[in-house]
Amino acid sequence: MSKGKNYNVSIDVGTSSLKGVITSLDATGRQFLEAYGSVKSAGIEKSGINDAVALKGALRKLVDGLIDQMPKKDIIADFYVSFSEMNYSVLSENVEEIISDGEPAVIKEETIKDLLENIEQEKFTRGNIKIHKSYIRKYILDDEKIVFNPVEMKASKINLEIVYISSEGRSSEIFKRIFEELYGSGVFNIRPSLVSAAESVLTDKERQHGVMCVTLGHSVSEIICYKENLPVYISQIPLGIKNIIKDVSKVLETSFDEAEKLLVTYGDTNINNSGEERVEYFALDGRTRKSVSMRKLSRVVYARVRELFNKIRRELGIFYTENKNITEDKLPGGIVITGGGAKLRGLTDTGVETLRMPVRVGTYETSFNPRIENSDDVSNDPMFSACLGNLLESTEKGVLEEAPLSNEEDGKVKEKEKKGFGDIIKSIFFGGEEE
Ligand SMILES: Nc1ncnc2c1ncn2[C@@H]1O[C@H](COP(=O)(O)OP(=O)(O)OP(=O)(O)O)[C@@H](O)[C@H]1O
Ligand SMILES: [Mg+2]
Repeated sequence: MSKGKNYNVSIDVGTSSLKGVITSLDATGRQFLEAYGSVKSAGIEKSGINDAVALKGALRKLVDGLIDQMPKKDIIADFYVSFSEMNYSVLSENVEEIISDGEPAVIKEETIKDLLENIEQEKFTRGNIKIHKSYIRKYILDDEKIVFNPVEMKASKINLEIVYISSEGRSSEIFKRIFEELYGSGVFNIRPSLVSAAESVLTDKERQHGVMCVTLGHSVSEIICYKENLPVYISQIPLGIKNIIKDVSKVLETSFDEAEKLLVTYGDTNINNSGEERVEYFALDGRTRKSVSMRKLSRVVYARVRELFNKIRRELGIFYTENKNITEDKLPGGIVITGGGAKLRGLTDTGVETLRMPVRVGTYETSFNPRIENSDDVSNDPMFSACLGNLLESTEKGVLEEAPLSNEEDGKVKEKEKKGFGDIIKSIFFGGEEE
């Protein structure tokens, strides 16, 4: 085991690619990028995992590639994983707890921790609802005193206003099992991609004043709005870059792969940027050369992107209707787009033109999150937003208003078990035996 350094492994699972990084933390808390990479996804679609064996193969390939970049293989790491599913929601709830029957008693940190754990466990047992993250808006002591941190204060009764990000179903468990089969039992911090991506790219001011973050991925666009530093709205639009690629392949009568290549290399949703110059591609037979004008390509791309922004506008409408208490200047931060799709040229122009509000591309670098040394390639790449956002938890210091529950699957706060890379290598070469 290497001494003096802490390592983190983070993987973001998408339907187009799996993204991964390894970072190290030195004694002063500075974070360094040690390895990064991405591989083509397998076994996972919008609806979820449809071939666990194929997905495991792709994960092995990704981790293999990361380990290859490490000068030292024998390290211990914390493991973070994010993925997307279609049924996340954000809920808000008031909870009351009697601290003492008689005289007011001092509130201890454990009291609050226990309270949150009980709520999480109760929801999971009763409705199979998994709480991914929770935030506390405020505490009210004895029906009168509002505080941000009740620890060390005296009260007979405490009320909490809690905001949760939750989902129904067993996807997190399936992911956990896959990772356990690959790398042995231990703690895998499993998080929703959309939260990791948003918290990776947004600034504190945006989250405070109001902003919508859109993670434009291959299969879906995931939406999360923040106001007063809390998530207030979550939604998914079943439209991603895949739909643009499909359109291009249909109109140009070419393969999906060729269409994706054209889109990534020449695609621009701003028709004004594209002229009559022609670009070549292969027809479906893989031999016949064809060509298309940049303008025509741009027109195809524009149509879908316009549709996406119209759908985003509809989401804004729903958000405003559901949050009537939020009046003027509802989302002054506008729209921040991240995910691999945010690399599409001209996207912000089309966004501003359609929505008439600020639209920007968000990457880890555009936030004020702790710097990760040597990470320019990934910090500036919106495709890696969620992957880097997963790591924020590892550097998060006790934020009073924001008290995340444990991410452990059984809902208990445990001493974090670290994963040995020796084990990872062993499981890769020996077919994923359990520890
Ligand atoms: N320059 C570019 N222009 C347009 N699209 C791009 C560009 N670069 C990458 N993409 C697209 O971004 C997508 C990959 O983004 P990302 O890795 O965020 O998706 P994912 O996480 O695999 O998908 P999902 O989250 O929807 O499951 C691919 O569809 C890819 O074609
Ligand atoms: Mg994704």
